[in-house]
Amino acid sequence: MPTSTIRTPRFFQLHRIDDAALADEAAAGLLQPAAQVPPKFFYDALGSRLFDAITELAEYYPTRTEAAIFAAHGAAIAASALRSVGPAPLMIDLGAADCAKAARLFPLLQPGRYVAVDISVEFLRQAMGCLQREHPQMDLTGVGLDFSARLQLAEEITGPGAALVFYPGSSIGNFAPADALRLLREARALSHGGALLIGVDTIKDAGTLEAAYDDALGVTAAFNLNLLMHLNRLLGADFDVRQWQHVARFDAAASRIEMHLEARQDLLVSWPGRQRRFAAGERIHTENSYKWTPQGFGELLRHAGFGQVGHWTDERGWFAVFMASG
Ligand code: AVJ
Repeated sequence: MPTSTIRTPRFFQLHRIDDAALADEAAAGLLQPAAQVPPKFFYDALGSRLFDAITELAEYYPTRTEAAIFAAHGAAIAASALRSVGPAPLMIDLGAADCAKAARLFPLLQPGRYVAVDISVEFLRQAMGCLQREHPQMDLTGVGLDFSARLQLAEEITGPGAALVFYPGSSIGNFAPADALRLLREARALSHGGALLIGVDTIKDAGTLEAAYDDALGVTAAFNLNLLMHLNRLLGADFDVRQWQHVARFDAAASRIEMHLEARQDLLVSWPGRQRRFAAGERIHTENSYKWTPQGFGELLRHAGFGQVGHWTDERGWFAVFMASG
């Protein structure tokens, strides 16, 4: 093939990744009376690999259940998407990482353009280069953006037409209901009259949920504890990981898994200019992972402005894939 017919991906980094600002954010959370550090601090290089390992665990059902729903209903899902967005659509992938989930939909969806969004454009470069070799004619764009505070993309990146916004993996679960609603509204605006395809974890018995976040091998414990290693590097702190333990509990009233790191003993943590004491049993709250009923999430999508909402699920009803449009 002549080289002139092979496209190359475009890349944009929309915010500076500012380590000083990140360090300030983590320190402010540690100094609150009820210490908390947001889940984005899980994902340093090792943390991202530990998350990949979590998705392979027997107890962690969301990733494989979502994949099974796409395997069973992919044709119907793609047909529904194409009715909203038309042929050769623009696909916008939120939290794309290695782009693998989107790439599995390409044969059914045949997108003309693909925009992958992730917190760091560097994560996307390799995956996009690989995708471009497999799909030489596809128009590929990688965007570095932390959309947890605000999701918006300029028209120079998306173009004017309808888009399929893809947000798989139940990542929406990290947002409290009011923030989830805001993000869904922003996703609807971004779709320009197209559609949103989103994966959601459902409410189920506490034993199944807690096992998924506290597995027998301790991989999720390592994932949670690794946040302290990351803070040691980022802040110059002196957390001793052995003094902490992983806690994961389902709060049925709030409909969320909470992950915490609990001090095994009275201890002192120091970093340049600051320190904090923790009493034995005191915790740092590191993650919420909200679970929804299909009915409740459907209502949230309608509340966000979508007029048409449907979903697919597995036989056990453990995970749901929603299509929302209008
Ligand atoms: C990436 C937010 C979807 O909440 O299940 C997995 C993260 N935390 N095990 C989830 C996670 C612990 C995951 N999300």
